[in-house]
Amino acid sequence: MNVNDKDYEEISSTAIVTSYPRTFTDIPYEKEIYNWLNNHCEEDVTLNKTLAPEIEARYKLTNKLLESSNIKQVLELASGYSSRGLIYSNKGYNYIEMDLEKVVNNKLDIIKSITPKVPKTLNIISGNALRDTDFKQCDKYFDKNKPVAVINEGLLRYLTFEEKKIVSKNVYNLLSTYGGIWITCDVTPKKFIKSQNNAMPDFNKNLNKVTTRNNLNDRFEDINHIKQFFGDIGFEVKEIHNFIEMKQNLYSINHYSIVNEHIEQSLEDAIVVVMQIRMKENE
Ligand SMILES: C[S@@+](CC[C@H](N)C(=O)[O-])C[C@H]1O[C@@H](n2cnc3c(N)ncnc32)[C@H](O)[C@@H]1O
Repeated sequence: MNVNDKDYEEISSTAIVTSYPRTFTDIPYEKEIYNWLNNHCEEDVTLNKTLAPEIEARYKLTNKLLESSNIKQVLELASGYSSRGLIYSNKGYNYIEMDLEKVVNNKLDIIKSITPKVPKTLNIISGNALRDTDFKQCDKYFDKNKPVAVINEGLLRYLTFEEKKIVSKNVYNLLSTYGGIWITCDVTPKKFIKSQNNAMPDFNKNLNKVTTRNNLNDRFEDINHIKQFFGDIGFEVKEIHNFIEMKQNLYSINHYSIVNEHIEQSLEDAIVVVMQIRMKENE
């Protein structure tokens, strides 16, 4: 399939939308990262502090699940301006971030501006999650004898089901080679979009001005739909976690008091799943 990066570049500004709320958290480097973006990027996006608990919860829940897996090689797809790669490569993880070229170029400049020594185990590479050949770049950095955790926050929700299938097959092929797991909050059920709209009535309207790719038709109906969709590709959904699990750890709630009943409901309805390639019957 011919994949054209241009078709996806309109999604890239959403990475600023998700970077800003992390400044209302205790996640290291996030203020420095957002300051860089604020000084260097001209994109016209609406910023929303109320998004902080959701973005902080998905970030921290993903970290928790990564750590409990004991897997130390990570491919983060559509990593945007997240600090996770820098933090985990400093902890000794072999970490690859993959995003579209413009975001990657910004990210490399940001990392150089906030840390004098970029860890050798952090590799930030240009790639399109829909292009299978771009995944081959991982072979240069990963140890074939060790499993990989694939992570992504905020990519599949902007893709059609056909496109989600292509990304999922690419992840499947990578995990067939290395073994490992796929951790993602990117399985957005319709119920969550409803509660997100209650928590932030203008959020999705404003997002529609940033990208034409924020469509309700591209959301999963429910958990069964998620299991069926990924099951058809060959995955098994091993774990399902609600964002609300992280409530006690959310600085945005406990320090900045960014919370109300609608935000709490949205944290109840949003999920992170952990998937693995399904074993064949006789294995
Ligand atoms: C909502 S942002 C999320 C960024 C980051 N994960 C976060 O949580 O802040 C979406 C990201 O997806 C990236 N992206 C969009 N289409 C992509 C594609 N086809 N392949 C790889 N990355 C893509 C964008 O450039 C952007 O960085």
